[in-house]
Order: sequence, then C-alpha cells, then structure tokens
Amino acid sequence: VLKVSVTVLSFKSDGGESDSESSGVPQWNNKQFTDLSNYSGSTSLSSVSGSVVSVYNSDYSSVDIQGGIQFSLNYVHKLREFHIFVVQCQNLAAVDTKRNRSDPYVKSYLIPDPANLGKRKTAVKKKTLNPTYNEILRYRVRMEYLMSQVLNLSAWHNDTFGRNSFLGEIELDLSSWDFNDTEWKLLPLKPRVYLQPSDFRGQLRLAIRFLPQISHSKNIPGSGEVHIWVKDCKNLPLIRSPTIDPYVKCFVLPDISKKSSQKTRVLKRTANPIFNHTMVYDGFRAEDLKEACVELTVWDRDRLANHLLGGLRLGMGTGKSYGVQVDWMDSTAEEVALWRRMMESPNEWVEGMLPLRMVTAAKNTWK
Ligand SMILES: *[C@@H]1O[C@H](CO)[C@@H](O)[C@H](O)[C@H]1NC(C)=O
Ligand SMILES: *[C@@H]1O[C@H](CO)[C@@H](O)[C@H](O)[C@H]1NC(C)=O
Ligand SMILES: *[C@@H]1O[C@H](CO)[C@@H](O)[C@H](O)[C@H]1NC(C)=O
Ligand SMILES: *[C@@H]1O[C@H](CO)[C@@H](O)[C@H](O)[C@H]1NC(C)=O
Ligand SMILES: *[C@@H]1O[C@H](CO)[C@@H](O)[C@H](O)[C@H]1NC(C)=O
Repeated sequence: VLKVSVTVLSFKSDGGESDSESSGVPQWNNKQFTDLSNYSGSTSLSSVSGSVVSVYNSDYSSVDIQGGIQFSLNYVHKLREFHIFVVQCQNLAAVDTKRNRSDPYVKSYLIPDPANLGKRKTAVKKKTLNPTYNEILRYRVRMEYLMSQVLNLSAWHNDTFGRNSFLGEIELDLSSWDFNDTEWKLLPLKPRVYLQPSDFRGQLRLAIRFLPQISHSKNIPGSGEVHIWVKDCKNLPLIRSPTIDPYVKCFVLPDISKKSSQKTRVLKRTANPIFNHTMVYDGFRAEDLKEACVELTVWDRDRLANHLLGGLRLGMGTGKSYGVQVDWMDSTAEEVALWRRMMESPNEWVEGMLPLRMVTAAKNTWK
C-alpha cells in the first residue's frame, strides 16, 4: 500500500498560442528526464508533496537555463490588485547562439488557476540577453485567494517563425510571501519541474451531473442525486505483463461503508478499457457537494491480489469535510474545476478527461 499522496501538476496547455509549452500533454520519453534528487529549488516544490521530482528538458531547445528576473510584488488594497513589477532580466540564455542574443519576454501565471485568471505578459524585447521591461503585470484578485496561489514567472524567447523557447521559470509560494516587502528581488531562473514519468498513470474520461430534485431517497427530504458516468480510460500503466484487467471503483467520501462502494465490471486484457458505466448516489443536498468527495480508483484485477493503477478525487480540495481536517480532500485544480462545473450547472452532464494520479485509496480491499 502506497502511503504517498501526490498532487499532479497540471500539464494543460494554455490554448492555441505560439508558446512552446502549448503542445498539450508532454510526450513522455524517459530519455528526457534526469533524476534531480539533488535539486535545491526552495519554493518550486511547494505544490508537490511526497513525490520524487525530476526535470523535463525541453524537447526542441538545447537552451541552457541561466540568468534571473528582477521584479517586485505589491498588493494594492485600494484597487484589490496584485501587481508584479517586472524590472528586467539578466544574463538570459542566447537562443540565437551565432549572434549571441534572444528576443525575450516574461510571462506570469497564478497556479492552480481555478478562477481562470490566465496569463499576463510583458512586451517582447528584441536582440538582447539583458532586457529592461519596467512593466506591471496586474491581476484583479482578492488577497485571500492570492494567498493560496503559487506565482509562476517564466521567461521566453519569442520566435518569429518557429516555436517560442523556454528560458526558465521562477515559482513563489504566495502563502508565505511577505506582501509588505515591495523591494526589488533578483531571483535565478530554473528549469521546468514535472513529475516523474512513472507518475503518469493514464487518463480517465468521465461525466458527472447533479440532479437537485429527483431523489428517491426517503431519508433526506429535499435531497438530490449525483450521477457518475465512467466512460473510458486511456493509456493505463501496464504494471503486469503482458496486459491488465482493469475495473473502476467508486466511493463517495466521507462514507467508506460498503454501500458507498460501486464498481464497474472487469474488462479483460486492455490498457484502454471502455466502461460506459453510470453510478448513482442519492441523499445529496446542494450544500453536501462542498463537503463530499467522489473517489474513483482504477484497479487491475489479478488472481491473487488487485493492484491499484491510479485514481482521482472530485471535490472542492479544501482539506476539510464538515469542519474536520481530512487528507482525502486533496483534489487537484483540474479535479476541482470539473466538480465546480457540475455544481454550477445542475441537471447537466459535465465531461472531463482527467489524468490519473497516485492516491492512497480510502479503502482498498476487493470485496
Ligand atoms: C554574449 O553576450 C553577453 C552580454 O550580452 C556576454 O556577457 C557574453 O560573454 C556573450 N557570450 C558570447 C559567447 O559571446
Ligand atoms: C509555469 O509556467 C510555465 C509557462 O507557462 C509552464 O511551462 C510551467 O509548466 C509552469 N510551471 C508549473 C509548475 O506549473
Ligand atoms: C511573437 O512573435 C509573433 C510573430 O512575430 C507575434 O505574432 C506574437 O504576438 C509574439 N508573441 C508575443 C508574446 O509577443
Ligand atoms: C504589513 O503592514 C501593515 C500596515 O502597514 C501592518 O498592519 C501589518 O502588520 C504588516 N504585516 C507584516 C507581516 O509585517
Ligand atoms: C454507452 O451506453 C449507452 C446507454 O447506456 C449507449 O446508448 C451507448 O451507445 C454506449 N456507448 C458505448 C460507446 O458503448
């Protein structure tokens, strides 16, 4: 039984833009990962807990990460705005090695980004490794929200013809940032941090909906139903050779009793099973949706023991349920986003294709 809880970083691209990271899900290729057990990043690991972290060296650019960004942060209470003052970059890598220059710009993200605030960018400065910007990137956000975010500042070379090249990033955990400190800082750029390929556990496509009114439950009047339509999985890890016999199990936490458990049938010899199975849970009031969490785990049914392949949890990811601190209320940004979409559109199916991650199953015996 794995006792590790991992928050999977979001690999989603940010739309049809020319940045090189917008190629969608990365091509997992072992050769592109280097073990970085001696990685000394101080803030960048804050969103990853208990996992081994490695560096994903960009596939197309042989650009070394070097240099830094000088900036200051300020929260302007009067405007309810977060200001990132980008002063300059120093000693950036040269994408045009012959002429020893790049066309750099700086981009910001607040992650995770459930409110969809998106990115901000400075202007592109041409033909320089030491660009001066003196630009403010602004976000209209509440302080409380900001304090739960990680600021991701990255430097890019804007390529006129090809793909933009990644020049490095800085991550700052804003929950521990002193917002009274508005001094300029010069911090070094670092390579991108991703989870190890072994943490790539395939994906699960599902749709969920909340029917507020139609419950057949007599116990809780005025309650509704949550429907979970498990559609299919893609690229499940082949942990057993030559193939696996997958099935999906569902719990609605905090209830881990037998009646909370539902399963799909077992599909034979496939890493891409199509389940097309709907599970129904009743007795939900709208306010329960903020406290409950749907745990879906994918298993390989073996004669002797069943193996956990991966899972996910749909909920608000607040760390709490009905006022109690719980470790399973740990949904990733993508998982929270799907759950929220369901809450915001009652009676409608909302669909998502979500990456499976390592979860410590609330209850992991086959019965
Ligand atoms: C490239 O330019 C930077 C300053 O812009 C300089 O410090 C560095 O030595 C140059 N490198 C080469 C290989 O010419
Ligand atoms: C930070 O932003 C850059 C640029 O958008 C992205 O490539 C990188 O994956 C982000 N880092 C994390 C940890 O999300
Ligand atoms: C990068 O260059 C392209 C083509 O010159 C341009 O269309 C694009 O807006 C630039 N990107 C940024 C981030 O400024
Ligand atoms: C920040 O400054 C405000 C007002 O100037 C003060 O009330 C607050 O205690 C300061 N916070 C910290 C962490 O120093
Ligand atoms: C899934 O099930 C529904 C009804 O239960 C059926 O209409 C549909 O054709 C099925 N889809 C697949 C891909 O099997």
